[in-house]
Amino acid sequence: MLHLFNLLHLSGGNSGIGKETAVALALRGARVIIACRDPERAAKAVREIKMRSHNMNVLHMHLDLANLRAIREFCKAFLQKEKRLDILINNAGMPSVLDWTDDNFSMCFGVNHLGHFLLTNLLLGRLKESAPSRIITLTCSNYKYQKLDFQDLNYNLLPFFTYCRSKLANIYFTQELARLMEGKGVTAYSVHPGYVSSAWTCHYSILFRMLMQVVMFMFFVPCELGAQTVVHCAVADGVTQHSGCYFSDCRPAALRPFAKDPSVAKKLWEASERLVGLP
Ligand SMILES: NC(=O)c1ccc[n+]([C@@H]2O[C@H](COP(=O)([O-])OP(=O)(O)OC[C@H]3O[C@@H](n4cnc5c(N)ncnc54)[C@H](OP(=O)(O)O)[C@@H]3O)[C@@H](O)[C@H]2O)c1
Repeated sequence: MLHLFNLLHLSGGNSGIGKETAVALALRGARVIIACRDPERAAKAVREIKMRSHNMNVLHMHLDLANLRAIREFCKAFLQKEKRLDILINNAGMPSVLDWTDDNFSMCFGVNHLGHFLLTNLLLGRLKESAPSRIITLTCSNYKYQKLDFQDLNYNLLPFFTYCRSKLANIYFTQELARLMEGKGVTAYSVHPGYVSSAWTCHYSILFRMLMQVVMFMFFVPCELGAQTVVHCAVADGVTQHSGCYFSDCRPAALRPFAKDPSVAKKLWEASERLVGLP
């Protein structure tokens, strides 16, 4: 078990899997920071997390992952205020939507991958100072339906494929991050939470939502269960030897061969640095 937590929780803190992860870690005594784009939803979630965990050390900070400037401002404020960061959970995510971020990236790729990429990089120094520390990034088993196209990383045509690519990027990102952090006390994991009955359908039409209610009721697991593998990677002993791995059902899981190519992971890292303007 890690002894002291200063958990940074991305937006998921206000709903779905993220909120349940926050409750589970607050119950274990973590200081939980949820980073959310909507202050009202964030404040409501903080009240609920405190009430359910009896842990008053829960707070929220403003973060919009669809805006690179906002991410930089968030990190600046975080680093000024917080001296430790033991666990970073890149949970926030957009499902398949055809929209654009403020910086003209496809919404899925911009929020799900580039936003987390920039944020993690800006917080890496504090994670190293807090070693042993862990970085967990939510991905999805749907990664396997697409490959990355480096000529068109900003692909935004078929929404489902856009989502799959962003989630594949999360896997490569974790692998390269783990490689770069080797020997520095910072480990990284990508997590498929299962198919979870969360609020992700809120981005779609009422008809689709009604249909999905039925499907989710029959086949999806509740958010508490969806949070289990995330919590496992955050606190369990024995996971650090699996840095860089893809986890599902609380254990490392096999990836399709194309998703394990270190040269693609490195290429994506370098392309992402250029896209977000990191030196
Ligand atoms: N549910 C599943 O079956 C499933 C399966 C595989 C993977 N996942 C992954 O699990 C993660 C959590 O999803 P969930 O199912 O819990 O969905 P959710 O309930 O919709 O939660 C998504 C969270 O992301 C936040 N978010 C979206 N855009 C943001 C932005 N620009 N800036 C900051 N926060 C933003 C949302 O905030 P708002 O409330 O402000 O919108 C929300 O809190 C996602 O990465 C998702 O891809 C989910």
